[in-house]
Amino acid sequence: MRLQGKNALITGAARGIGFEIARAYIAEGARVALADINDSAVKQAAASLGPQAVAVQMDVTRQDSIDAGFDAALAQLGHLDILINNAALFSAAPIAEITRADYDKLFAVNVAGTLFCTQAAARHMIARGQGGTIINMASQAGRRGEGLVAVYCATKAAVISLTQSAGLNLIQHGINVNAIAPGVVDGEHWDGVDAFFAKYEGKSPGQKKREVGAAVPFGRMGTAADLTGMAIFLATPEARYIVAQCFGVDGGNWMA
Ligand SMILES: NC(=O)c1ccc[n+]([C@@H]2O[C@H](COP(=O)([O-])OP(=O)(O)OC[C@H]3O[C@@H](n4cnc5c(N)ncnc54)[C@H](O)[C@@H]3O)[C@@H](O)[C@H]2O)c1
Repeated sequence: MRLQGKNALITGAARGIGFEIARAYIAEGARVALADINDSAVKQAAASLGPQAVAVQMDVTRQDSIDAGFDAALAQLGHLDILINNAALFSAAPIAEITRADYDKLFAVNVAGTLFCTQAAARHMIARGQGGTIINMASQAGRRGEGLVAVYCATKAAVISLTQSAGLNLIQHGINVNAIAPGVVDGEHWDGVDAFFAKYEGKSPGQKKREVGAAVPFGRMGTAADLTGMAIFLATPEARYIVAQCFGVDGGNWMA
C-alpha cells in the first residue's frame, strides 16, 4: 500500500489512462477524485471503483469549472496530495488544413488546462504546507514533431516545458512536478488516432494501430496498465529528489 492516506485528483479520468491510474492508486490505498468533462461517464467510472473514488465534473478549459471541481474534490476528500494532469485532446491534419478552432481547442485543454489545474493544486498544497506531487501526462509526441500531428505535438512539447518551469518553481514548497511521456497506448483514444490516419494516409481501419504496435521495440502497443507503475512511483517518497523531469514509458518506441 504505497499510497495509503494519500488523496489524488486525476483529470480526464472517465476512461483510458486516467481511469487505469485511478484504479491503481486506489489499489495502493489512495482516495481518488476522478475529474472529467463527461459527467455521466465519470460518475459511472467512479462508481465502478467503489467508495474510495469520487466523481467530479470538470472542464479544464474553464476557470470556473476548475475552481468548482477542486472545491468539490476538496469537500469530499478533505485535502489533496496528488494531481495528475491527464485530460487531453488529439487531432491530426496536414499543415495546410489545420484550423484555428482546432488549434485553440487543443491548446485550451492540453496546455491551459494543465497550467491552471497545476495552479489550483499548487495554491492548495502551498497553503496546506505538506508538499505534494503533480504529474503531467506528456507524450512522445512532445519530443519531436510529426508531419500530420503538428498541433498535438506542440501542445505536448508545451506540457514538457510547463513541467520544467512548474517543477523548478514549486519544489521550494515540497511539491514535485514531473511528467510521463507514453508512446502508443491502445484504447479509445487510439481508435480516434487510427481514424485520423485512415483519412490522411489512406489506410484501412485498424491498419495504423497494427503498424505502430509492430514497430514498438517491446513488441506491442502499450496498455493503460503499463503506465501505472511510473504514476505510483512518482507519488511515493522514493521519488522525492526527482524534479522537473519527463519519463518515457513507451516500450522503447521514442528511442527507436
Ligand atoms: N493513448 C495514447 O496512445 C497516448 C500516448 C501519449 C500520451 N497520451 C496522453 O495520455 C493522456 C490520457 O490519454 P488517453 O489515451 O487515456 O485519452 P482518452 O481520450 O481515452 O481520455 C481522455 C479523457 O479526457 C477527457 N477530457 C477531454 N477534454 C476534457 C476537458 N476539457 N476537461 C476535462 N476532461 C476532458 C475525456 O472526456 C476523456 O475521458 C492524455 O494526456 C494523452 O495525450 C496518450
